[in-house]
Amino acid sequence: MKDTPARHGGTTGPDLSAPGTERELLRTARWAAEHAPSVWNTRPWTLETDRGRVCLRIDLRRRLPVADPALRESVISCGAALFTIRITLLAGGWRPDVHRLPDPDRPGLLADVSVAGAAEAGDLERALFAAVAQRRTHRGPFDAQVDDAGLVQSLGAAARTEGARLRVVTEPALVRSLAGLVGAAEHLHRHERVRGEEIARWTRESGGRTAPGVPAQDYPPADDEAARLFPGRDFGHGRIPGRMRVSGTSDGTVAVLATPGDARADWLTAGEALQRVLLTAAHGGVSAAFHPQPLEEPLLRRFIAERMSLAEGGHAQMLMRLGRAAPAAPAQAA
Ligand SMILES: Cc1cc2nc3c(=O)[nH]c(=O)nc-3n(C[C@H](O)[C@H](O)[C@H](O)COP(=O)(O)O)c2cc1C
Repeated sequence: MKDTPARHGGTTGPDLSAPGTERELLRTARWAAEHAPSVWNTRPWTLETDRGRVCLRIDLRRRLPVADPALRESVISCGAALFTIRITLLAGGWRPDVHRLPDPDRPGLLADVSVAGAAEAGDLERALFAAVAQRRTHRGPFDAQVDDAGLVQSLGAAARTEGARLRVVTEPALVRSLAGLVGAAEHLHRHERVRGEEIARWTRESGGRTAPGVPAQDYPPADDEAARLFPGRDFGHGRIPGRMRVSGTSDGTVAVLATPGDARADWLTAGEALQRVLLTAAHGGVSAAFHPQPLEEPLLRRFIAERMSLAEGGHAQMLMRLGRAAPAAPAQAA
């Protein structure tokens, strides 16, 4: 598994010929984690090797005290990185041995990953790995919903495999209600000064995707609001227009990712499940747009789980839209 093209402009994938060596293991983990989704692209983790293991830790310097005071979304992001590391090793023919939250005295140490031995990679592992470099967050309308019932089933199975649930919301009234909650939360957030300052710290008018933070080329499209019900996060603070140009008029297929519990271990599970769902979707030609805004408001989060019954009896961890989209047009020059 060499020279895998990456989405971030021509870098190569990890050489997994000897991931048992500390250097290769770390390189593999770094490559994989760099391709994981994370809240506002904060990449809130550190990766270090220690006695043949990669230690995945939460990086508190990259936390979002206003939007994510409990660190739920940061841990979900770390979980997505963890799944990416796992699938990269599996696709390379190596069985990862994962210890989640191995030390109660060090809650910031989220996982230890080592190589337990060789294992032949199956088609599924190879397909999910191939999707790592292709997956990108979508923003704005889609061309079409997820029209393939088999793929919808696979997405649900992907979440279950990781210990989470994916509730696909097909009822029009519930979709409209969710859209209303996203709109309400986004409206409130746009009027919160401290939140605006926090977003400003993690957004950039220029620069590529390799650095942390969301670059302007990834802000929601300028005509986003007019085009659909679900407003995207206002990364441009109403001043810097999004440069992402997408076609389509569909909201896509709305889904809620949920876990039975709501502790740090559940958030890690949610992140692993999220990335398995996203890679399964990407393999099927489907991308995802994220709308966690109402889940950042405790009352609305509970309303979605308890009054709307959209968390399968547990806790909502991510609200997203999934759909087919023409590849986003290249960003205009800054
Ligand atoms: C927990 C979590 C929360 C996120 N929240 C948002 C969001 O509110 N709005 C948004 O447009 N994207 C959101 N994203 C997507 C990230 O911004 C995206 O993953 C990051 O910018 C990297 O880009 P990529 O996914 O295209 O690789 C979120 C991702 C995660 C994992």
